[in-house]
Amino acid sequence: MLRNIGLMRRRPPAFLAQCAARYGPVVRFPLPRSEVWLLSDPDDVRRVLQGNHKAYGKRTIQYDTLALVTGTGLLASDADLWRRMRRVMSPGFHHDLVTSMAAAVHEACAAWVGRVLGEESETELDLDAAMLELTLDIVAATLLGGPLAGRADELVEAVMSALHVVVAKAQQPLPIPEAWPTPGHRRLRHSMAVLDAAVDDVIATRRSGEPGTDTLWLLITALDEGLASEREVRDEVVTLIVAGHETVAATLTWSWVLLAGHPEVERRVDTEVAALPDPGTRGWDAGVLERLPYTRAVVAECLRLYPPAWVITRRSLEPDVVGGFEVPPGATVILSPYAVQRDERWWPNADEFVPERFLGAISPAETASGPLTYFPFGAGPRLCIGRDLALMEAPMVIATLARALRVRPLRPGAVRQDFGVTLRPKGGLPAEVTRRRHR
Ligand code: HEM
Repeated sequence: MLRNIGLMRRRPPAFLAQCAARYGPVVRFPLPRSEVWLLSDPDDVRRVLQGNHKAYGKRTIQYDTLALVTGTGLLASDADLWRRMRRVMSPGFHHDLVTSMAAAVHEACAAWVGRVLGEESETELDLDAAMLELTLDIVAATLLGGPLAGRADELVEAVMSALHVVVAKAQQPLPIPEAWPTPGHRRLRHSMAVLDAAVDDVIATRRSGEPGTDTLWLLITALDEGLASEREVRDEVVTLIVAGHETVAATLTWSWVLLAGHPEVERRVDTEVAALPDPGTRGWDAGVLERLPYTRAVVAECLRLYPPAWVITRRSLEPDVVGGFEVPPGATVILSPYAVQRDERWWPNADEFVPERFLGAISPAETASGPLTYFPFGAGPRLCIGRDLALMEAPMVIATLARALRVRPLRPGAVRQDFGVTLRPKGGLPAEVTRRRHR
């Protein structure tokens, strides 16, 4: 481990894959304080996330760190609190409701194109930042009941800055007490104050509006009925913002990088998109997704190669036998979608971008049982609540933007991967966007 510390920091999934290749599907790291186990066999992944999920909880460094920002929102919570809040929020992600959100996604994209280009026919921008801005607009329009009315920039800035500090904190070899006035802690306190004020404002604005089916309205109703506290509602709103925009933004940014590096795939997407009916003044609805099988396959394949949630962790609550070994209670278990989804044994030519793998089904490997070789959204009871939304949203964004613009990352071959809270391109993604005249 000491010899590989550089690789571990730079490319953690490569280090995990190397350990699995050398020591097998169950690896126990020789760490002094707590046991850390890496599981990379798809059967064992299924067992932890689904088959014997009750034996595992979320009190890991990964989720405790995230909870410094999101509090006890769905992503980081456990047990009864998690069950109660998942029940409150699930209706907001019902399949039919998600289908009806497609028009709002299209509208947000059209507005974004107008804002980015104005009267110009081309411009240069940081595509990564631009996708973050767009996906935050979409979270607001679909889950929070309306636009963030001037709060978007400070929200993104505060969330990113807070996450940056907590990730750096988690990577410190020795824990630094919260009370120490380090520059990082001061920055974190400032970001959290900005975030809390902005979220309070978003909740108050929504409360004064009309009742709706959006998740924020469900949360406000739960608060009024005594099913949730004010703090819990705040934590869920921050969770929706954190979990709902950076993940989709990363998927989109990587999709543009992959398309730019694979002109034949890009041409096929262009052809599919060009054949869509004119959106006219009414815009597109979810019906267009039926006509975008290839674009959807591009997204699915992108999620295989660049899963934003590149690592998923659990803490064992009781002894369990995995792959023939006994995992004791209190152990940290690491599962990596990135490492498993790039394993040649389950994915021939694993490092190649081949959307055709996913034609016919979004995720042939993501069936309800059997080995889990593809799990960008996790699995079992803690499956991503926003999965259907993300799988509608990402192709819809690509189709809407690709129809209006030509999106050109400037140096797609030079993009490096940054394994932070999510897997993102390091240092942003400079790109050129040009209006298409012929459509
Ligand atoms: C491509 C986009 C996305 C990816 C790759 C993704 C990935 C994931 C993964 C892997 C998990 C499970 C984590 C675990 O088991 O420890 C998860 C959970 C979650 N995701 Fe997503 N997600 C995406 C989009 C979204 C969206 C759009 C939302 C909407 C708000 C969202 C909200 C959540 C929430 C609240 C949870 C916690 C669910 C629970 O434990 O009950 N995600 N996501």
